[in-house]
Amino acid sequence: MGTMIGVMLLLVVFVMPLAWGVGARCDLYNGSWVEDESYPLYDSRSCPFGRKEFDCLRYGRPDTKYLKFRWEPAGTCNLPRFDGVKLMRTLRGKKVMFVGDSLTLNQYISFLCLLHAAVPNATLSSSSDNRSLSAVTFEDYNLTVMYYKSHYLVDIVKENIGRVLKLDSVQIGGSIWLTADVLVFNTWRWWLSTGSRQEWDYMQDGDRTVKDMNRTVAFSRALATWANWVDSSINSSTTRVFFQGISPDHYRGTEWGEKGSTCEGETDPSSPSAYHGGPIPQVAIVKQQLSKMSKPVYLFDISYLSQLRKDAHPSKYNGVKFRVDCTHWCVGGLPDTWNLLLYAALVHSI
Ligand SMILES: *[C@@H]1O[C@H](CO)[C@@H](O)[C@H](O)[C@H]1NC(C)=O
Ligand SMILES: *[C@@H]1O[C@H](CO)[C@@H](O)[C@H](O)[C@H]1NC(C)=O
Ligand SMILES: *[C@@H]1O[C@H](CO)[C@@H](O)[C@H](O)[C@H]1NC(C)=O
Ligand SMILES: *[C@@H]1O[C@H](CO)[C@@H](O)[C@H](O)[C@H]1NC(C)=O
Ligand SMILES: *[C@@H]1O[C@H](CO)[C@@H](O)[C@H](O)[C@H]1NC(C)=O
Ligand SMILES: *[C@@H]1O[C@H](CO)[C@@H](O)[C@H](O)[C@H]1NC(C)=O
Repeated sequence: MGTMIGVMLLLVVFVMPLAWGVGARCDLYNGSWVEDESYPLYDSRSCPFGRKEFDCLRYGRPDTKYLKFRWEPAGTCNLPRFDGVKLMRTLRGKKVMFVGDSLTLNQYISFLCLLHAAVPNATLSSSSDNRSLSAVTFEDYNLTVMYYKSHYLVDIVKENIGRVLKLDSVQIGGSIWLTADVLVFNTWRWWLSTGSRQEWDYMQDGDRTVKDMNRTVAFSRALATWANWVDSSINSSTTRVFFQGISPDHYRGTEWGEKGSTCEGETDPSSPSAYHGGPIPQVAIVKQQLSKMSKPVYLFDISYLSQLRKDAHPSKYNGVKFRVDCTHWCVGGLPDTWNLLLYAALVHSI
């Protein structure tokens, strides 16, 4: 009898938390948005890291309801409440690096604002040594948070024929990424760019050099190169690796049942039953790639929860573009939830 109870206790103490963390009953990424009066998590107007791209309140966004939604996972699990001081204690003496495009910058700025709100009088130092790397150090915790701009993750090299996108090499970024203890990667959006926004003239994969190719195929080749780099270069006992997942945009109103409209003027999230956009195809490529890796990489599967947030984009309330921006996200806003998920993974291991 004593043994039985012992076994049951063991089950409760050790097996239950595991099941709670990773079991099917706790899918953090399926759920819905609920209004929460305690939101937003900080006042973006007192965040010293605000950027004109994302600072919707400063650029005249009149409605603020979009700040008041909390992501509620379906089933039995909850996202833990964000505790910035706890996060900084966990990360004391460490370097956190966000690597990717402007959607990564979106998450980086939100991360800085969340930390700053927890310790508004903290001693900060910041640096931006060159165009691709910027950093902020919270001196009291010796915690450095960095953003490394990389649209494709793989290298772009200037050669005689022009700028060559090397689908099989991540040497340039790789040496810098290795200096971090926590890495958050993302790429996809720029793979679609053409014309003057395309940052390369040729693509090269091994001894094959081409003027262009199917962009989804090129993306998956680059992702495989990145995955090989992680598998061969990362020491999992010292470095945690995350992938941000694919952030959706809102230019096609049919996805949420409003033909012809964009995110402009939207003030409410979609309910799960009203959203018809379907999964983003590249997410399956990311998942498949991650499942083949030998090193653990945690995927922030943020696509679906973000798809429901047609209301969370800067739209015309930003300081850089004259066009309506339904690609990036207001900060504060949706990227704070992406960081709640990062927090849950780093501090609570879920
Ligand atoms: C979320 O869960 C519901 C109920 O199990 C399911 O019908 C739906 O397809 C799920 N949605 C996603 C995006 O996984
Ligand atoms: C701060 O952290 C770095 C590693 O990121 C370490 O090398 C350094 O010694 C630490 N400084 C202090 C004052 O603890
Ligand atoms: C930060 O400093 C201000 C002014 O010195 C002070 O009023 C405020 O209480 C401090 N906040 C915290 C959280 O220490
Ligand atoms: C940018 O900064 C990184 C890290 O400090 C350094 O390795 C790299 O050489 C710098 N690049 C340029 C062009 O200065
Ligand atoms: C590119 O490749 C993907 C994956 O193989 C395929 O689904 C898609 O139809 C292709 N696109 C074009 C324009 O050929
Ligand atoms: C990984 O890091 C741990 C802790 O610092 C160290 O003991 C181990 O030797 C490292 N492994 C490799 C393969 O470098």
